[in-house]
Amino acid sequence: MGTTGQGRFGGRRILVTGGGSGIGRATALRLLEEGGAVVAADIAEPGLEETAALAAEAGTGARLTTVTVDIADEASVREAVGTATAGLGGLDVLVNAAGILRSSHTEHTTLEFWNRIVAVNLTGTFLVTREALPALLATGKGVVVNFSSTSASFAHPYMAAYAATKGGIQSFTHAIASEYSKRGLRAVCVAPGSIDSGMTRDPGLPEDTDFGLLGKLTPAIGRGFAGPETVAGAIAMLASDDGAFITGTELRIDGGTHM
Ligand SMILES: NC(=O)c1ccc[n+]([C@@H]2O[C@H](COP(=O)([O-])OP(=O)(O)OC[C@H]3O[C@@H](n4cnc5c(N)ncnc54)[C@H](O)[C@@H]3O)[C@@H](O)[C@H]2O)c1
Repeated sequence: MGTTGQGRFGGRRILVTGGGSGIGRATALRLLEEGGAVVAADIAEPGLEETAALAAEAGTGARLTTVTVDIADEASVREAVGTATAGLGGLDVLVNAAGILRSSHTEHTTLEFWNRIVAVNLTGTFLVTREALPALLATGKGVVVNFSSTSASFAHPYMAAYAATKGGIQSFTHAIASEYSKRGLRAVCVAPGSIDSGMTRDPGLPEDTDFGLLGKLTPAIGRGFAGPETVAGAIAMLASDDGAFITGTELRIDGGTHM
């Protein structure tokens, strides 16, 4: 694959999971626009096809490839990350955007429900990062962008499992930022608030959701919903040399919803 684009990501090789929808797709398109060579990975093939069509429309399709992966499956991750790094000829930036949101009353949350959210969000982030680390460390300036959420730090009723995975991702990010900083790796989290995406269009809230409680604990003093491009722009800054002194931290992107 050619890696000769101009811009902040010219010559940079990038893997974006969750690249078939929402924020992952917007990030893949933004980093392509800024010159990067991108592999978009997702469990949903139709979503990847749509991302590829959008890149073609934007004139950046030649620097995009796609790969299907289930980030909760170790063998699938090994194969997909191997394919991506071989195709790109290395890896400079990993964006771990793939994730799922499911809601339920905690007292009714089954172990199966809990385990699936942990397997995709937390274990999936670990598996993709672990497989990508050798290539990222080989560059001496690799970057990992992980996805937390405001739910990791602020009360989000009915989302205990999801929130727990996002808190775990923050801790995981701090640990690897510290563990590999001497080898040039930067690891950061974005913590979006309400972003219009596949996930928030159908959060699967319980039928008897207390919207008064939801409203109180997730105050609407911010700017409501934003588009996924907002988060993509912040990721472009964090993952580029403009973010060179930023590591082991979270950037909250919530329009001031939580202050
Ligand atoms: N939308 C928000 O308001 C919001 C807020 C905070 C955090 N986030 C986080 O942002 C990230 C992106 O979510 P989004 O809002 O774009 O949602 P989205 O549903 O539009 O995109 C998520 C993508 O992940 C993919 N995916 C799901 N399970 C997968 C698996 N096992 N393997 C590979 N891919 C898988 C889906 O197919 C989808 O394309 C997620 O980590 C989410 O938790 C979103």
